[in-house]
Amino acid sequence: MKKVMYSQYGGPEVLQLVEVPQPVAGPKELLVRVRAVSLNPLDWKLRAGEMKLVAGSKLPKSVGIDFAGTVAGVGATVRAFQPGEEVFGLVDVLKGGALAEYVVVSEQQVARKPAGLSFAQAAALPVVGSSALQVFEQLIKLRPGAELLINGASGGIGMVATQLAKRQGARVTAVVGPAGLAAARQWGADTVLNYREQSVHSLGRRFDAVLDLSGQLPFAQARPLLTPAGVYVHSAPGVREIVGSFWHNLFSKQKYRVLLLKPKAAYLTTLANSNLDVVIGATYPLADFQRAYAEVAKGGIVGKAVFTVD
Ligand SMILES: NC(=O)c1ccc[n+]([C@@H]2O[C@H](COP(=O)([O-])OP(=O)(O)OC[C@H]3O[C@@H](n4cnc5c(N)ncnc54)[C@H](OP(=O)(O)O)[C@@H]3O)[C@@H](O)[C@H]2O)c1
Repeated sequence: MKKVMYSQYGGPEVLQLVEVPQPVAGPKELLVRVRAVSLNPLDWKLRAGEMKLVAGSKLPKSVGIDFAGTVAGVGATVRAFQPGEEVFGLVDVLKGGALAEYVVVSEQQVARKPAGLSFAQAAALPVVGSSALQVFEQLIKLRPGAELLINGASGGIGMVATQLAKRQGARVTAVVGPAGLAAARQWGADTVLNYREQSVHSLGRRFDAVLDLSGQLPFAQARPLLTPAGVYVHSAPGVREIVGSFWHNLFSKQKYRVLLLKPKAAYLTTLANSNLDVVIGATYPLADFQRAYAEVAKGGIVGKAVFTVD
């Protein structure tokens, strides 16, 4: 079968379409025929070698985390899924391997694809949807009327986080690029700001929580935007942010939290049942993997970019 892999760290040019043996499902696993795979910033951070500390440095490595497809076979002890069922899910975030014709996953890594979502829409959800759910489960406790700032609200996590926060009764201020203004409103944001034209600091407002998804609003810059007991979340922390947040929280009522995604089956089930508006901002055939990664990493995609695998 065909699979996208890389044998050296670098830009999209290091990616190669290779022929590998079709994987075989173990007794507790499923073989899935992949129909769609989404692109995540984690893909290119791993490929650039920025995450060797947690992902290891042994090459070759595979790419792609989220997928949707059809169950092609099940192991002897699998009871929850049958061949032919449509599913979506994610492989090990640090190992990748979804950008292929087939993947083997455990039952905990998939959920049934809702009929209302296309394969592309379902493949868009696992990483960003699980991240948004984890943020509101563990890092930001929203109460009705809470003021939430989402910086980078028109990307993948922002798309889900905006809709979930509105359902929990929060008031959402969404900071987006020019292409994302209409989508942020469509997802329910109360105030929408174009970061290329206006700084969020110019609003002169304070927020109960600030979720930075852009990597452009570090804690020091977000602090003046927080209420005295406000919470800030860094979505892409390195060692500095993890250590810094730990020390900060010992001495301040304002909390500095970091997202370290731990996927779980319950998140996939919740996403399947959430009836989310999933916007696909760009679609690419698998064969265009180098162009897709080069274009999408430049930004400006509203919602998610997705590969179709035929
Ligand atoms: N820690 C974890 O476990 C974990 C898990 C999942 C994801 N992540 C990380 O979380 C981050 C967000 O993920 P994502 O999938 O939502 O990424 P994404 O789809 O690329 O969204 C990021 C958004 O930030 C916006 N942005 C860029 N510059 C900005 C600025 N100066 N001000 C405001 N917004 C700006 C972008 O808008 P434009 O494109 O229009 O510029 C884009 O919509 C990524 O860094 C990802 O790697 C971490």
